[in-house]
Amino acid sequence: MDEQQPSGHEVSPPEEDKVVDVRAKKPVRRRTKDSSDAKPSVRLNDQKTQSQYEPYKEAAWGFINHWYPAVFSSELQEDQVEGVQICGIPIVLRRVDGQVYALKDRCVHRGVRMSAKPMCFNKETISCWYHGFTFNLKTGNLDTIVGNPDDKLIGTTGVTTYPVHEVCGIVFVFVREDEFPLEDVPPLRHDLPVMFPESSERFPHPLWPAAPHILHEDAIGLGIHRTGESNWRVACENGFDNAHILIHQDNMIVQSNNWVLPLGIRPVSNDCITTFEDDDGPTGLMQWLFSDRWEPILENKKLGISVNGVNGRMYRTSFYLPGVLLVENWPEEYIAQYEWYVPITDDTYEYWEVLVKRCATPEEVEQFKYRYRTVLEPMALNGFNDCDLYARESMQDFYGDGSGWDDEQLVDTDVSPITWRKLASRCNRGIAKPGVGVNGSVKASSLRLRDVSEGVPSRYFVRKVEF
Ligand code: FES
Ligand SMILES: [Fe+2]
Repeated sequence: MDEQQPSGHEVSPPEEDKVVDVRAKKPVRRRTKDSSDAKPSVRLNDQKTQSQYEPYKEAAWGFINHWYPAVFSSELQEDQVEGVQICGIPIVLRRVDGQVYALKDRCVHRGVRMSAKPMCFNKETISCWYHGFTFNLKTGNLDTIVGNPDDKLIGTTGVTTYPVHEVCGIVFVFVREDEFPLEDVPPLRHDLPVMFPESSERFPHPLWPAAPHILHEDAIGLGIHRTGESNWRVACENGFDNAHILIHQDNMIVQSNNWVLPLGIRPVSNDCITTFEDDDGPTGLMQWLFSDRWEPILENKKLGISVNGVNGRMYRTSFYLPGVLLVENWPEEYIAQYEWYVPITDDTYEYWEVLVKRCATPEEVEQFKYRYRTVLEPMALNGFNDCDLYARESMQDFYGDGSGWDDEQLVDTDVSPITWRKLASRCNRGIAKPGVGVNGSVKASSLRLRDVSEGVPSRYFVRKVEF
């Protein structure tokens, strides 16, 4: 599809979308329905709408066969070995002569993770610390066994390898099913936001400069990643949720800039969101914020509250498979905020927050780093986004067993997550299977485990929100 042409389809009544769920449904424990379920549903997510995103509801462990950020480049120095877990798959990374290699981090012998005690005898292999099975970094093949070099298993087996693309200070890994053909691996840009100014005609943005992109040669990316204790889907949906502006009213970045936020933002047009499925590009949705397709809400008469004039930062959010957020013109002009919500287990995700700016000279790089360190990281990536992290974790008990997807009662401001769920159901490259033999595959709520480790007992009174 031509990048310059408006494409895909506008948000339309649910019946126009077709989703076929060919996957077997897992049984989920359902809560007892109350009597209100007998009435005609006025929820935006009525039964018919829900049927259009069944695959999404099954994707508790994420979408597989996509590109994900694994580590910042600075976290993997020459000859360093690190282990990560993405979509329930253990992955070991090793950098040799600058090149990063990624293999399944599960020894074929007895299943331990090679990254737990890195052992490398040369530049071509990584050995398992337990009994010495030694795997080729490029092919994953079992090349030898340290103390058993003539065994007939050698050369007949191995571990899956994962394509790597390192750019803008981030190491991306294509997390694939074992049988996904390497020749079918799409370029990284298919799993990243659209680029500007190339897409400026398609998605005009007269109110701010063209957003920087991590594939721009002069782009600098600065950021953090941390583990969030909720399912990756509720994290994604918080990222581009237009109705939660309420939680940010008191944030330091808002108050210190004298921004005045509306009470909410409502969709007022059927084309408030454009979805697109490009043949040679990303799949995503663009929210036409700061246009007449969304209306700021300034007053609630019932509550007797109002906002006198809105004065905030103009921004726009778009969202892409497999779970990538672009916030244009945020938190400052000429900067774009990227976020990834990388599934680790079905109740943890790695929250990536990266600010990207094009810097033409070394001086501009230094200025950006200084601004990042002194203002942007503490006020935007931490202060502001800490509220989001908390909100996601607050949803986990409701969605954790899968029944929340049926019981939630969505309204018209939730058009964004519903549009995303349908799009993701249609266009994902595969639904990750539940993890086996990895962190999180044996169930225990990570939130409760954290409480236990912090010495906080189960409690009768609800814990108060603090942010
Ligand atoms: S478990 Fe890896 S060599 Fe035995
Ligand atoms: Fe937020």
